[in-house]
Order: sequence, then structure tokens, then C-alpha cells
Amino acid sequence: MNFPVEKFKTLDTPFYYYDTDLLRTTLRTIHEEAGRYERYHVHYAVKANANPRLLSIIREYGLGADCVSGGEIRAALKAGFPADKIVFAGVGKADWEIRLGLEAGICCFNVESLPELENIDALAGEAGKVASVALRINPNVDAHTHHYITTGLSENKFGISTEHLEMILDRMASLAHVRLVGLHFHIGSQILDMDSFKMLCNRINEIQELLYKRMMIVDIINVGGGLGVDYEQPDRQPVPDFAAYFAVFHKHLKLRPKQHLFFELGRAVVCQCGSLITKTLYVKEGVNKKFVIVDAGFTDLIRPALYQAYHRIENISSALPPQEYDVVGPICESSDCFGKVVSLNETSRGDIIAIRSAGAYGEIMASQYNCRRLPGACYSDEMP
Ligand code: LLP
Repeated sequence: MNFPVEKFKTLDTPFYYYDTDLLRTTLRTIHEEAGRYERYHVHYAVKANANPRLLSIIREYGLGADCVSGGEIRAALKAGFPADKIVFAGVGKADWEIRLGLEAGICCFNVESLPELENIDALAGEAGKVASVALRINPNVDAHTHHYITTGLSENKFGISTEHLEMILDRMASLAHVRLVGLHFHIGSQILDMDSFKMLCNRINEIQELLYKRMMIVDIINVGGGLGVDYEQPDRQPVPDFAAYFAVFHKHLKLRPKQHLFFELGRAVVCQCGSLITKTLYVKEGVNKKFVIVDAGFTDLIRPALYQAYHRIENISSALPPQEYDVVGPICESSDCFGKVVSLNETSRGDIIAIRSAGAYGEIMASQYNCRRLPGACYSDEMP
């Protein structure tokens, strides 16, 4: 990626830099590749990044929005996503959030438990409405990803287990203010092995059979998100392989006639277009190692501290031969470390460092611990 380094030197750091050309190329690819199949709809998982500028670009390409809170529904509406392209998921929806969804007229609620279903029925009844719901089924498929971001195993808090499904369908028949429109699944995030998605398809086929035996066909199958990106080499394939991803579903998922297939992609849409840009404050000699102390910390990008996630780190202002450093932030915790034994072009005070693949779950997860400022944001198409 080409960074406007001279310009960066004049800006306050740390900040997120978004390459809007790459975002647009990614969105165009999604549009084309999903468009090869009938009734495939991609909803952007707003949780990955709710930056308003990015949201409005994503909306331009016709994606819907997958929201997990009232705040995200508001952000999506404000960015111009049509209400009937918003789906609302989450294990713990509060009453005000459900009312907000009902008022806006969202496409559907992804329901995760019987008590939640009963509550939506009651609130829809009060509002004189019938809520469209999809049942989130826990498919018990192992996504082979970090245990914090795997969600499809039966031991996780998410979704309804298949053993409880029939009981919930029975109960649902007596609820007048909810209408079953779909089935929802999600197995985890940062998944690069297409076999996990194939296993999900097989599971969905079994569950569709089970419903069919009850003479039921739903309008929507929602397979969630999870397509991963290349954190090791962000420039190798900056646009994820959406063709291969959609092809797996086309090949293995048996959709019923007229059924719509929903995807909820977050990371794959926005990850590679974002980098966290930070300045070197000091280079410190440790015992047997050198530290590059930068002005960004885990308050700006928490993934390395929280998930031991790898992000590629580059000194984009030095052309000197590389040396090895631990790259750390200023926060008073040892976990405030972006990478150990990182090979960086020889670094000195003032050098600009880019932490790559930070467009997803970066800016949105920032906090103000240590009374720090939230990171800023700037965009390639606004650079002079
Ligand atoms: N749908 C549901 C129901 C989800 O729970 C998620 C993500 C998505 C869609 C979008 O998944 P994606 O396409 O982005 O993989 N903060 C973590 C990731 C947490 C993902 C939570 N759920 C990280 O930084 O890796």
C-alpha cells in the first residue's frame, strides 16, 4: 500500500487511515461476485467498523446492515441504509432496542432464545405490529479460529441448540405477533478454511429437512459472516476471495425455490483498507532488545492485547536496513504491546509506523482508558 508519508508527518497521531479506493474495489467485487447468484444478499456487519464515512460508502454499493444494538441500528439508518435491509442480532436485546427495530420497520430480528422471542411478541403486540423473526440456530460447527471469536459450538452462549428447535417452533405457533421468516447461523470469525463453511452448509441442509418434515419453508437462510483476511501479508491479496466464498455456498447449500440467502460480512469488507498510523516517541535500549515506543496503545487497537492477534507493522518513513524491535505503546500495562521481535527498517524518534489490517475491529473497539483521546480518522480521497 502507498501511504502519503509526508502528509502523515504533519498530522496529529495516532489516527486510522482508510484507503477508500481499496474499500470501493472490495465492495465492487462483493457486488459482482454475489451478483452471479440469484437472491444472494450481503449485509455489512456494522460491529466491524461503524465509522460514518465508511458506512455511507458501503451503503452506496447496495449492501444491507447487520446490527447488534440500538446504537448500530441508528448508525445504519443515519448512513442511509434502508430499514428493510437491516437485520438485528444479539443475545441480549433490551426493550428499547426491540421497540426501535419495530418502529423503524427493520427486515428481521435474529432471535437467540425462547424468552427473547416471547418478549419480542409482547412488545410487537403492544405496538400493534407483527415482528419478522429468524431463529438463530447454533449449528455446533467448529470454525477452528481463536476461542474468543468462535461462536458456533454448542458450548457458546449464542443461538438456539437444534435439540430445542422443535419445542420453540411449537411454542411459536401460539404467538400472534411474531412471524418466522428465516433461520440464522454464524460459526465464528477470521475463517480461512472453506471446509468450515461447507460443514455449515451441510448442517443447514439437515435443519431444512427437519423443518420440511413439519411442512415449513422459511424465506431466508442467513449464514452469518466470518470470512477471514490475510493479516500476515496484507498486500498479497488485499481483496479477499469472495468468488471462492460464495461458490462454496452455491455448491453445498440446498436452497429451496425462492429462498433468499443472506451473508453478514464484516472483517472481509473493511479490514485491509484501514491502518493505524502512529509516531515513534522513543527508541529505548532494553536488556538484549530494543523497544520502539509509539504513541498508539491498546486503547487505539486492542486486538493484539485481547486476542494475541498478529498485525503486520511497518516503518513507512525509514529506508534504512531493518533491525528487530518490540513495538509497544504508552499505556501502563505490559499487554500494551503491538508485536515482539518485529523486523522494522531502522527506526528513530519521529518515524511513522503503520499497523496494517486494522480496518475491522480497530477504531470501533477503541477506549479511553488512561484518559486517552480516541484515535482520529482520515481518508485517502480527502488527502491533498
Ligand atoms: N454475524 C454475527 C452474528 C457475528 O457475531 C459476527 C461477528 C459477524 C456476523 C461478522 O463477522 P465477520 O465477518 O466480521 O467475521 N472483535 C473480534 C471479532 C468478533 C466477531 C464477532 N462477531 C476481532 O477483532 O477479531
